[in-house]
Amino acid sequence: MPLAVDVHRRSRERHRDQLGRSRGEVTTPALLLDLPVAQRNIRTMAEKFRELPAELRPHIKVHKCPQLAQMQIEAGAVGVACATAWETLVMSDAGVEDVLLANEVTDPDKVEALCRAAREHRITVAVDDLRNVDALDAAAKRAGSRLEVLIELDVGMGRCGVRTKEDALVIAERVEGRENLSFRGMQGYEGHCMLEPDRDVRLAETHRANEKLVGAVDYLAQHGYPSADVSAGGTGTYFITGANPRITEVQAGSYVLMDCFHGNLVPGGFEIAMTVLATVISRQGNTLVLDAGRKAVGIDFVTPPLLAYPAGEVRYYAEEHCLVDFSGPPPLDLGDRAELIAGYGPTTVNLHDVFYVLEDDVVVDVWPVIPRGPGRP
Ligand SMILES: Cc1ncc(COP(=O)(O)O)c(C=O)c1O
Repeated sequence: MPLAVDVHRRSRERHRDQLGRSRGEVTTPALLLDLPVAQRNIRTMAEKFRELPAELRPHIKVHKCPQLAQMQIEAGAVGVACATAWETLVMSDAGVEDVLLANEVTDPDKVEALCRAAREHRITVAVDDLRNVDALDAAAKRAGSRLEVLIELDVGMGRCGVRTKEDALVIAERVEGRENLSFRGMQGYEGHCMLEPDRDVRLAETHRANEKLVGAVDYLAQHGYPSADVSAGGTGTYFITGANPRITEVQAGSYVLMDCFHGNLVPGGFEIAMTVLATVISRQGNTLVLDAGRKAVGIDFVTPPLLAYPAGEVRYYAEEHCLVDFSGPPPLDLGDRAELIAGYGPTTVNLHDVFYVLEDDVVVDVWPVIPRGPGRP
């Protein structure tokens, strides 16, 4: 039985007391997924990609949820992108046929696990170092499998990725000589552009990043290494990167759940499908204290979380407390519920075991978040 099926069954069993409860009755803090909203976001993005030359390869580090990944595939995504080896194993095992680990992996246990999985699944991994190429090839040989690789180019973010097209060529030449690896193309994620709130500046920076990537793709092609796939982009740049006819796929992920950070980047495009439900545990003057702090809501990114309703200003997050100030007496009292919109969705999801899945504001299912944390599933 696939791990995702087994964990889903056990999650439903463990949280069965929550099934059938209304939105405001779930035990807090709780990660709520409004399924019709997520479905609308998936449909909206799928429709946008029907108009764009690129394909959509959603990044699933956002939700770590095989059920959501399946919905994205059914809506037309070509596969998924992952951030970790463990996510890659979960998604492959759950039946996603084309999984990209859009990241470098060097830990020997993870490399071995990936290569074992590649016996049965189509797995592609990003590389930016000759030693890593050799290690992946050797591990794939031992496992009797074959990995596909995308050479990652740094297009301005300064994270992973070779810095120049000449360095990319050296890697392509090394991959070419390896029996258990095959060269699939290039990746150039313009993460630095996602941080740019000004749309015009973001447009210009994204064009520059895309140009650098396409320039390297052309350079490799001129030297005998044509790219079948060129992968880039995220929710903040999908409409720019996805419109570039030379980029074959976009790794947007956050559009499905949304959060404050991405809401500012693509206003109006997608709705908030995920919130954290909290309970008022103290009411002091014009301040409410909720039972959802840093251990329930990711606050580690640029944009702080917001109260979905009622209007109040989130002042501070402690480990288990969220403090909300109002201009007058708070509209909620002890035991009342409030919902928080994550500042950044991916780090919020990672704090929870499960999504409580809502339809018409009633919990209809419990979907596991796998794998949670940095760890193995
Ligand atoms: C390599 C890579 N691709 C794509 C994304 C997707 O970004 P988003 O969730 O903003 O759509 C990320 C996010 O960090 C990423 O690191």
